[in-house]
Amino acid sequence: MLKMPANGVSSRSPLSADADSAFVRIDGLSKHFGDVAALQHAALDIRRGEILTLLGPSGGGKTTLLNLVAGFLVPDGGSIHIEGRTITDVPPYQREIGVLFQNYALFPHMNVGANVGYGLKMRHVAKAEIQRRVAEVLALVRLTGYDLRKPRQLSGGQQQRVALARALAISPKVLLLDEPFSALDKNLRASMQLELKEIQRQLGVTTIFVTHDQSEALSLSDRIAVLSEGRIRQVGTPNEIYRRPADRFVAGFVGDVNTLHARLAGVESQCAFVALGAATLSVPAEPLRGLSAGAPVDLFLRPEQLRLAARGGTSLCEGIIAAHSYQGAHFDIHVASDAAVSGRILIRQAQSDASAQWPLGADVAIACVTQDGVAFAPER
Ligand SMILES: Nc1ncnc2c1ncn2[C@@H]1O[C@H](COP(=O)(O)OP(=O)(O)O)[C@@H](O)[C@H]1O
Ligand SMILES: [Mg+2]
Repeated sequence: MLKMPANGVSSRSPLSADADSAFVRIDGLSKHFGDVAALQHAALDIRRGEILTLLGPSGGGKTTLLNLVAGFLVPDGGSIHIEGRTITDVPPYQREIGVLFQNYALFPHMNVGANVGYGLKMRHVAKAEIQRRVAEVLALVRLTGYDLRKPRQLSGGQQQRVALARALAISPKVLLLDEPFSALDKNLRASMQLELKEIQRQLGVTTIFVTHDQSEALSLSDRIAVLSEGRIRQVGTPNEIYRRPADRFVAGFVGDVNTLHARLAGVESQCAFVALGAATLSVPAEPLRGLSAGAPVDLFLRPEQLRLAARGGTSLCEGIIAAHSYQGAHFDIHVASDAAVSGRILIRQAQSDASAQWPLGADVAIACVTQDGVAFAPER
């Protein structure tokens, strides 16, 4: 039977939301390979039915964490729990986990039906039940009728759909996906992301998705855990990660960002005020703890949080138009300015005539379209 969405039907009282929220609990998990600390004291709760994405640069420890959850690797320290049961020492095939890797090749000599039914056969499920189940998951990935094809007779996208069907056939408690679409071209990848999200919702299967692609993570996830150098840097909704990055690394890795020289104007409990030019913005106080009023800070603003204006008004800073780049739905405008740590500010404007309005070499002012941003102590 396919697992239907977990819609809050629970014997627990509403007050035990904490216990409910951790369907998978990763507790202080570490893994070394020789001198390399691939994962260091990772702690993470994955909620029932959500898609949680591990996002980070290559070598950050994403695959290591996934392999530990799957049971393909043994941790040096820490533990893993599913529905409150410790599975750290349970062998992979008893964990009820479905896995789909980028290069998790289908068995080339087996047809689609045999590939999808493989896990069930290993579990000694009756033949008729395997057939029923294979048909069910092939319908789910829109490959009804492909049972007798060999993998080589399928496109790359179809092969990954078969691999997804194979991972789902065993009705896993947890679905693990490691960069499953990274070999596909851009358009196919986008449609596979949508399709995965739909299937995941339909089944309500708790999913851990790995990617190094920040736009994939932002569009697909209920929550994102940003991982770099074996450490979890931040866990939050896509909007929290994008709007309220916890540190410089997250701010720079997820989306384009401008880093501007600003000053700390003051702190009021949770909220700090940062001044640049004629503007004062409110930012989270936490990253600026220990700095006093007047201290230099780096203000992080997204390209769409800025706009161009004629020189004069209440602006953040001034500069000279250095380059335009037409992107179809918007213009990217690069402004040379001393206010930026890199000497360049990127502004994203929607008007199609932006390049005519702001020609190369024009003197401009840069204003902010929001009252808030994030700021961190300078790196120097
Ligand atoms: N089997 C292994 N042997 C030695 N080093 C490994 C092994 N697997 C991963 N590593 C190292 O551990 C770190 C994390 O790797 P990995 O988890 O694959 O990162 P990601 O999936 O985020 O790219 C890297 O420095 C990588 O070189
Ligand atoms: Mg990897």
